[in-house]
Amino acid sequence: MSLRPVMETRKAAPAMEGAGVHLHRAFGFQDPTELDPFLLFDDFRNDNPEHFLRGFPWHPHRGIETITYVLAGTVAHGDSLGNTGTLGAGDVQWMTAGSGILHQEMPTGNAQGQMHGFQLWGNLPASQKMTAPRYQDVGAQEIPEIVDDDGTRVRVIVGEFWGRTGPVDGIAADPQYLDISLPAGVRKTIPVDTYRRAFAYVFEGHAAFADASAPAGVLLEKEVAGEEIHIRDMSGNRTLVRFGTGDEITVQAGPEGARFLLISGAPIAEPVAWHGPIVMNTQAELMQAMKDLRDGTFIQG
Ligand code: FE2
Repeated sequence: MSLRPVMETRKAAPAMEGAGVHLHRAFGFQDPTELDPFLLFDDFRNDNPEHFLRGFPWHPHRGIETITYVLAGTVAHGDSLGNTGTLGAGDVQWMTAGSGILHQEMPTGNAQGQMHGFQLWGNLPASQKMTAPRYQDVGAQEIPEIVDDDGTRVRVIVGEFWGRTGPVDGIAADPQYLDISLPAGVRKTIPVDTYRRAFAYVFEGHAAFADASAPAGVLLEKEVAGEEIHIRDMSGNRTLVRFGTGDEITVQAGPEGARFLLISGAPIAEPVAWHGPIVMNTQAELMQAMKDLRDGTFIQG
């Protein structure tokens, strides 16, 4: 077994999206190779309706997939395939934009004025950029939750974990998307297949991710697979943790426990040409997408 080193930890940065929604962006619109096959991760947790009610009115997507995971509040959704619905706490929406989709996402929050959740963008390989658009709506009750002996809880949003399989399937990036809650002080080693690019996003409590290569830090345990394990700083709310290669990660929860997403996928390793909500392989394909939008031919069929 080899531990994935922590390559970087950084805080999500404030950003404005849609018609004026305040959110925090962990990554996106910078180096698309860094977390290939993932392009963007937004944390839209917000307790002030003035900062989210304007929402994300009708806009196009092409060449990507988006996954929205709601923790609190509701999001009304509509798209050019004719899907409409409302996402509530614990629900997941996976949208394959493929050749083109128009949609809107309008958050309404809950009685406490909270709108909490995350949106991840997964890239599509060239062979699937122009695939037919698809939409999957997954209710909270369909998502398996595993509770381990030490009280660790894992919601399997996408992919396979500890023998359970999440309800979203057929995603190009072959993602594993886990929502992991660790009780106070619990230390856990979690397998992540070697071929995957992986990151964690801490959103409650604090977590320390072991790093076999870090020269300094608090010594947690002397021998794990023959290597000294060091701990970098505890990562708190809104921290992105980017892992290097290996086949497992080790994490320890702080005194108030920790909750984080652990997301990984198979790199696509293709050129990226990116303009806003449209992500293709070449500039010519981007120009074509713009032309299709102007000509009213963006939506196929
Ligand atoms: Fe969108």
